[in-house]
Amino acid sequence: MNMPRTDETLWRAVDDESARQERQLELIASENHASEEVMAAMGTTLTNKYAEGYPGRRYYGGCEHVDEVEDLARDRARELFGAERANVQPHSGTQANVAALMALCEPGARVLAMSLDHGGHLSHGHAKNFSGVFYEFHHYGLDRESERVDMDQVRDMALALRPKILLAGASAYSRLLDFAAFAEIAEEAGSRLMVDMAHIAGLVAGGVHPSPVPHAPIVTLTTHKTLRGPRGGLILCDAETIKVVNSRVFPGVQGGPLMHVIAAKAIALREARQPAFAVYAARTLENAAALAAALAGRGLRIVSGGTENHLLMVDVGSVGISGQLAEDRLHAVNITVNKNLIPFDERPPMEASGIRLGTAALTTRGMGTDAMLLLADWIADVLGAPEDESVAKRVRGEVAEMAAAHPIYAGG
Ligand SMILES: Cc1ncc(COP(=O)(O)O)c(C=O)c1O
Repeated sequence: MNMPRTDETLWRAVDDESARQERQLELIASENHASEEVMAAMGTTLTNKYAEGYPGRRYYGGCEHVDEVEDLARDRARELFGAERANVQPHSGTQANVAALMALCEPGARVLAMSLDHGGHLSHGHAKNFSGVFYEFHHYGLDRESERVDMDQVRDMALALRPKILLAGASAYSRLLDFAAFAEIAEEAGSRLMVDMAHIAGLVAGGVHPSPVPHAPIVTLTTHKTLRGPRGGLILCDAETIKVVNSRVFPGVQGGPLMHVIAAKAIALREARQPAFAVYAARTLENAAALAAALAGRGLRIVSGGTENHLLMVDVGSVGISGQLAEDRLHAVNITVNKNLIPFDERPPMEASGIRLGTAALTTRGMGTDAMLLLADWIADVLGAPEDESVAKRVRGEVAEMAAAHPIYAGG
């Protein structure tokens, strides 16, 4: 099918976005560059199909082919992560979390999760998010000294609160989470363990990060971060929990599934099983470690002293600037990052003292540790002299060369 491009205004914006991605070095830890095959699946006739229900039990006719697609996605998800069951319909990570919470407890129930200020996610109990509105969330935090999850505090809080759900998982945490220890605490407190592995799913798939699947009856993830698939959510669970999970996803919180996105998830899950993906995951980790060490060598404080996954938190307050200023100055040289609160931050969230850097997207672009060393120097140069236009000009030129040498898409 040849793609018509009659809507010039719209396509100009899309082309501009494609050019921006090629031009900028993407360090936003939750982003990646999906393959062309993954993107192609989302532009297929599957977008036309209503398929409420599940394979073999739909509320609409004509579902025989989309049934095949959803079965492929479910089987691949189960096999990739070694899970007993999978639901591939959640439209996003947040939707997956709504459905998972609803599957494990009634509205109003108590849930214990990581504090948002210390790296947790909005859907883990932010007052204005569904989670904070419908559930009684309590939060554990990081140890002030080590800036790692304080498992003694988790245990004390779990035993005192006896939450229905103990939730492990984070958006801005660079250390391994001890899923076995979380599972033990959940058992002791009479809670069920839920793990949100949205950020690290690709690392788990690539075998370079411990998996939560053996430890938790329910695991949610997004398919678009380190897993490098389409935007979307996914739930893994045991055979006992799948019935309630399925009914919470549909009709619980969603209507018809996005079959074109489910097809793209199936492709990404297949890609993640290839040996090349394990190499990619390992390089993503190496790159994050190299970037953290090089930035530390340039005098920037790395939260918790380093990283064990694809992301690192940089305390830019250590060089006297705010996260917002760092984000803006790096944006001006085509390095894309996001400002982020650091643990025990004294600045408000819109200003923040940190930036969060992730290496998943640049690793997809084929960049290795040599590139990370250059990148660390550029970041340190810009943040060390945020008002110096001559530094910005030089770095902008060097970034442009690096970006041009690593095209994301053929002909891009
Ligand atoms: C830990 C975690 N859970 C859930 C989500 C939500 O994913 P989505 O943006 O697809 O709703 C995110 C997104 O950043 C996340 O980091």
